[in-house]
Amino acid sequence: MRRPLLLALLALFLLGFPPAGSARAQTAPSAGPPPVTLQPEESRADIWRAIRQGERGTVAAPNAAGGQLVQSEGEAWRELRLGAYKLWAGWILLGAVGLVALFFALRGRVPIEGGPAGTTIRRFNGIERFAHWLTATTFIVLALTGLNLMFGRTLLLPLVGKDAFAVLTQWGKFLHNYLAFGFMAGIALMFVLWVWYNIPNRHDIVWILKGGGLLGGGHPSAKRFNAGQKFVFWSVVLLGTSLSLSGLQLLFPFTFHFFDSTFAFVNSWFGTALPTGLSPMAEQQLAVLWHGLVSVVLIAIVIGHIYIGSIGMEGAFQAMGSGRVDLNWARQHHDLWVAELERKRVLPAE
Ligand code: HEM
Repeated sequence: MRRPLLLALLALFLLGFPPAGSARAQTAPSAGPPPVTLQPEESRADIWRAIRQGERGTVAAPNAAGGQLVQSEGEAWRELRLGAYKLWAGWILLGAVGLVALFFALRGRVPIEGGPAGTTIRRFNGIERFAHWLTATTFIVLALTGLNLMFGRTLLLPLVGKDAFAVLTQWGKFLHNYLAFGFMAGIALMFVLWVWYNIPNRHDIVWILKGGGLLGGGHPSAKRFNAGQKFVFWSVVLLGTSLSLSGLQLLFPFTFHFFDSTFAFVNSWFGTALPTGLSPMAEQQLAVLWHGLVSVVLIAIVIGHIYIGSIGMEGAFQAMGSGRVDLNWARQHHDLWVAELERKRVLPAE
């Protein structure tokens, strides 16, 4: 199947361009040396060697990406992806789980000081909780199915066997492709609903200097969101957007050129010399590496977030569960927000 296709492509390939960094072919016809046309059974090692060494030519095929017959960088990319890259991704994730476990062992569950007041106040309305849980559920499925693509062959395949792994991975891939749109909608909605409360202010600096009060030593003041939550919010919005864009580039291959445009933009602003004029294949390879790296960093951050929003802090989960929190919890963690509600006479609660 592949041989006639290669030969057909090769027959379209014209040699005679000055050597360049990659064996990328171009679609535009040019006035150069006469075209080389290979006969079906002809094996021309010299041509393949030249292509591999960076010789350029032109193809008449409408798809320029298909005209790249050999990309030697792909080998280095594959080695990196299956080697150091995967190893570091694993360490980042294990590190996040380890840190959370260590924190829990040292600090235990952060209690509501003085116990619950028994009176609750509204913290998040229905739309806010919908946006949160849409983002959270889609993200968790995307994370699990994505991690399966990264580590599944090493960790899951030996456990469940080839057949089950194939079925799981295929369904996982479908889920990954389609739920991505739910995640994008979720972060867009969260951005619109919460950006106002996540603009940094002077209280955030004090909050950070006091380590959020989590390590002991008093409770720094905070409005509706503290600096830690703002960090989570901006990580989800910015890294989530970057994940979405690189994901779209993977979902619709050779359609977008986000890396080329980003590198050109960075070069023009910072005078850097990032490579531009990337081949379509290099674009896709960078998208794979970037998508995986950003997802691992965001998953590590979200592991910390899930911990503190559930078992790590007494009274936190109800905020996203019922939408209401205990008044003492609110005073302890968001005193300025409570004071503002009191000023606006929104308190006491029903
Ligand atoms: C089972 C999983 C999760 C639980 C139990 C959880 C819990 C919570 C809770 C309780 C809050 C409100 C905190 C407050 O009242 O101050 C919250 C807020 C938030 N959550 Fe989650 N969450 C989960 C998953 C996620 C995921 C996967 C994302 C994004 C990918 C996410 C993004 C956010 C953001 C941006 C906020 C607002 C900022 C913040 O409070 O940190 N959550 N979550």
